[in-house]
Amino acid sequence: MHRTMATPDRLNLPKRMRRLRRTPVIRGLVNEVRVSLDDLIMPMFVKDGLLDPEPVGSMPGISRLSPDLAVQECQTLFEMGIKAVALFPCTEPSVKDPQGSESVNPDGLIPSLVRAIKAAVPAMVVICDVALDPYTSHGHDGVLSKDGGDVENDATVAILRQMAVVLGQAGCDWVAPSDMMDGRVGAIREALDDAGLASVAILAYSAKFNSAYYGPFRDAIGSKRAAGTGYLDKGTYQLNPANAREAIRDALLDETEGADLLMVKPAGAYLDILSRLRRASELPLVAYQVSGEFAQIQAAAQMGWLELERTRDESLLAIKRAGADLILTYFAKEYAIAHAAGES
Ligand code: PBG
Repeated sequence: MHRTMATPDRLNLPKRMRRLRRTPVIRGLVNEVRVSLDDLIMPMFVKDGLLDPEPVGSMPGISRLSPDLAVQECQTLFEMGIKAVALFPCTEPSVKDPQGSESVNPDGLIPSLVRAIKAAVPAMVVICDVALDPYTSHGHDGVLSKDGGDVENDATVAILRQMAVVLGQAGCDWVAPSDMMDGRVGAIREALDDAGLASVAILAYSAKFNSAYYGPFRDAIGSKRAAGTGYLDKGTYQLNPANAREAIRDALLDETEGADLLMVKPAGAYLDILSRLRRASELPLVAYQVSGEFAQIQAAAQMGWLELERTRDESLLAIKRAGADLILTYFAKEYAIAHAAGES
């Protein structure tokens, strides 16, 4: 090997990593991962009876929209290059009940909105959550057992099947069970196929952890208020944040049951799960950068402690690098504005 004499001023270093970091152009050439607008999915909160957008206090820049405004927003997003949205309803307390009955109303807020979006922007990929929490008076993702002690798995799955069919019939492209009941992916697949909805795909919230990072989301959809003041513990159905192996087993079950895409949620604190699942499955992998991750960055930026744009972009890059193909993020729109050319 070629050697030069080391001197006090010059190390004898044949390998120097900085050679490929020398200029922005060189760094661009050896860049490994990019976030493109095609990777991003924008979550949207919708509420009936609003005239103006209603800001969500804990999520700067994010508002609940009326259905009309949500349709307009979809048009804007699509033109900007964001081609998928995930819809979440903020439901009036008056329509909530212990069974979450409103979840299967074909004329409810979400099914009606899906029809309106599909009429206005047919190519927009519309993703709908399948879970009862926006509709239950107690705020849980399913129906409770008679003694009220726990969420009942199989009785909940029976409702989720109907809910998925209602959403599929309304025209949604992907149903996204976010409830973490056992067996729901297989049951939903069967229900969709039986209803002639074979082309509706299932994005399974496969590795969804019992996380504190969902706080601002619960503000946004009002599921926190429904359940009282404390942070609702969903530990009997969502994954224990300590358990990586269990998360992979759960996700692989969803794959076996017929999931078309797998999701890890939250994203930033669970990059190890993303990277393990990337190796364990060949399905498209989706990460949800959840409300609390968004709020942390926004809050620190408001305090002047972090630079918003750089932190935002780095957080998304890290999620891609860990193995995500797609990212649900509340930053999707502002990322599209900041990177109008389509790539970072
Ligand atoms: C519940 C659901 C949650 C989110 C999406 N669907 C929260 C929860 O489990 O309470 C959280 C999303 C976010 O925090 O951005 N079905």
